Amino acid sequence: MSLQESGPSVAIVGVTGAVGQEFLSVLSDRDFPYRSLKLLASKRSAGKSVSYQDRTFTVQELTADSFDDVDIALFSAGGSISKQFGPIAVDKGAIVVDNSSAFRMVDGVPLVIPEVNPEAMDGIKVGKKKGALIANPNCSTIICLMAATPLHRHAKVTRMVVSTYQAASGAAAAAMHELELQTREVLEGKPPTCNIFKQQYAFNLFSHNAPVLGNGYNEEEMKMVKETRKIWNDMNVKVTATCIRVPVMRAHAESVNLQFEKPLDELSILEKSRADCNRDMRGSVIQIEAKTGISEDTAREILKAAPGVVVIDDRTSNHFPTPLEVSSKDDVAVGRIRQDVSQEGNHGLDIFVCGDQVRKGAALNAVQIAELLL
Ligand SMILES: NC(=O)c1ccc[n+]([C@@H]2O[C@H](COP(=O)([O-])OP(=O)(O)OC[C@H]3O[C@@H](n4cnc5c(N)ncnc54)[C@H](OP(=O)(O)O)[C@@H]3O)[C@@H](O)[C@H]2O)c1
Repeated sequence: MSLQESGPSVAIVGVTGAVGQEFLSVLSDRDFPYRSLKLLASKRSAGKSVSYQDRTFTVQELTADSFDDVDIALFSAGGSISKQFGPIAVDKGAIVVDNSSAFRMVDGVPLVIPEVNPEAMDGIKVGKKKGALIANPNCSTIICLMAATPLHRHAKVTRMVVSTYQAASGAAAAAMHELELQTREVLEGKPPTCNIFKQQYAFNLFSHNAPVLGNGYNEEEMKMVKETRKIWNDMNVKVTATCIRVPVMRAHAESVNLQFEKPLDELSILEKSRADCNRDMRGSVIQIEAKTGISEDTAREILKAAPGVVVIDDRTSNHFPTPLEVSSKDDVAVGRIRQDVSQEGNHGLDIFVCGDQVRKGAALNAVQIAELLL
């Protein structure tokens, strides 16, 4: 991030949290231009000093007056804060990029992954003095669709079955501290402290802590179902998910089973696939027309060419994506690319995806959105 008179005035809401801290790191790494930077959090953090590059900033308490002369407000302070202060910021002319689930499914609010559906925010630009809300999708949805979308563009996914292995960092900084504390406690033979989660997390795993709904799915799972449909602009795509919290400090993993409209084919249209995947972010409109299914070799080539995706798929040495390898990395890693032997008529692929959900699943995705606004 660099100080530039012509740059936008930026505010970060929730700067002391896991995502807020990652915002600072991503903005710096990407040399995002800014005219002024306002760091906001709760009353508890007001007055704290934050060193950022060669300057020191003071954290301010978030209030209704925080958004005077703010062009871009990056929100990561939870849904209730977004609901309360997001509309205030928009009224004052700011473009809000919100990490919470507060506005994701609201009609007219773009739900954006820049590599997938940048066209959803067409017309929204900094400098028009016109406020707007843009929602960042759920972290598991982002990581899944970064890998599934290039394949969907090629061959149209009709059904997707996802199982997640979600890290502590997805449940905020306090959950990471609890996992660390519990690990020490268990190794020392002490009873584990369970403040954030109701059960032992270290050396265990359990169904995602989001509330369970009337249909038996939890909220996290239904976010993946609904958000995929909105992002792909396809109300007919069938999605089901099982979301599990695993004792990994940072970065989510997901097993994704894809069913395509047409049977898998050989390497017939590889060159066209490469061209599709190489289109720039702005031009990458999802193609709904089904061409053919994808052989696993074609899928590997499509994924290698996809922006923001790296393929780790070494069967010989049994080396595939891991949360550790993608932690603090921008790219989503994909491996275990293989034909689904259970699908009749050769219609399916299995893939395994890992992505840093604090980074690509939250802060990086939001900053990429902000870059498109400039
Ligand atoms: N963690 C992830 O991987 C992830 C991924 C995608 C989306 N998200 C979403 O991002 C949001 C933040 O998540 P997080 O993990 O960063 O949480 P976190 O670590 O708990 O941080 C929460 C932040 O919100 C601030 N805050 C709390 N109450 C506030 C208030 N009344 N006024 C102003 N600021 C307040 C906190 O400030 P204080 O320090 O002053 O309390 C802190 O900066 C959530 O909506 C979450 O769902 C998180």
